[in-house]
Amino acid sequence: MDRELALEVTRVTEGAALAAAKWLGRGDKIKADGAATNAMREIFDSVNMKGRVVIGEGEMDEAPMLYIGEELGTGNGPEVDIAVDPIEGTTIVAKGYTNAMTVLAIADRGKLLHAPDMYMEKLAVGPNAAGKVSLSDPIEKTIEIVAEASNKKVEDVTVMVLERPRHEELIDQIRKKGARVKMFSDNDISASIATALPGTGVDLFVGIGGAPEGVVAAAGLKCLGGEMQGRLKPQNDAEIERCKEMGIKDPHRILQLDDLVAGDDAIFSATGVTSGTILGEAKFLGGGLVETDSIVMRAKTKTVRYIKTVHNLEHKPYIIQDND
Ligand code: FBP
Repeated sequence: MDRELALEVTRVTEGAALAAAKWLGRGDKIKADGAATNAMREIFDSVNMKGRVVIGEGEMDEAPMLYIGEELGTGNGPEVDIAVDPIEGTTIVAKGYTNAMTVLAIADRGKLLHAPDMYMEKLAVGPNAAGKVSLSDPIEKTIEIVAEASNKKVEDVTVMVLERPRHEELIDQIRKKGARVKMFSDNDISASIATALPGTGVDLFVGIGGAPEGVVAAAGLKCLGGEMQGRLKPQNDAEIERCKEMGIKDPHRILQLDDLVAGDDAIFSATGVTSGTILGEAKFLGGGLVETDSIVMRAKTKTVRYIKTVHNLEHKPYIIQDND
């Protein structure tokens, strides 16, 4: 993949964040998601690449834009596969809570797992504990491994868990072990990435969330030298069949980082909509100006860029048009 692609796709997550931010707290997650999707779609088409959506807003008959199989880009440039999440945390945006972002991952053609839209059990750690943990271990053992790898006492280890009734037992086990639990309402991509970014204070992410989000997070962890493992959680026969259709022969096996994102290259870009663990919010500065905060990373070089950009909305008509 070309190096320039990383900077180019940051424009995509920035545009989606600007569009989403216009819908902050308006109580309409569908419209917020539609605005972000529209902006992403529009900007993608100015990027020099032969892109194909492998994780998107749904199948062709379910989604008007960014559907699985949709081709994106100018048609000139590298052949890549794309995973998009125009808003990670749609409810957060609708309610005006913290921790929403727009995010995407790109890899060479055929390198991203075509994750079906179902649940996945996940585990993410930073570089210190990478290669030492396993999703098959009990959580108590994982916490011990992470504590040792990070040179921390168990009581100082911070574990992020999505606040859901299905995680009550897991949270109980972590508390009994003596580690710190940090719950969050949505956006487990951010929680996964936080384990590998210095300065977040987050050591471990565990729990069940969306499988597509697992693949996007895996791309980010590959860029940071961290580790992500996942195990699909099909809920019925139809979901088991869906896994097989998507080329996943054994839906219950543990998927390692290379199963989620193969090869040594991937690009991850995210822009904050509301402030969260890894990014600041899109700030309306007055005079039509909005400042965005993004992170863009590349696995091959392990470069991590934080990009602050000031946009003039009057010159970005695709964003204004969504809010008529
Ligand atoms: P949306 O932006 O689609 O609402 O997803 C947010 C999210 O919190 C993901 O980060 C997470 O993987 C998933 O939802 C969890 O699903 P559920 O809300 O069904 O527990």
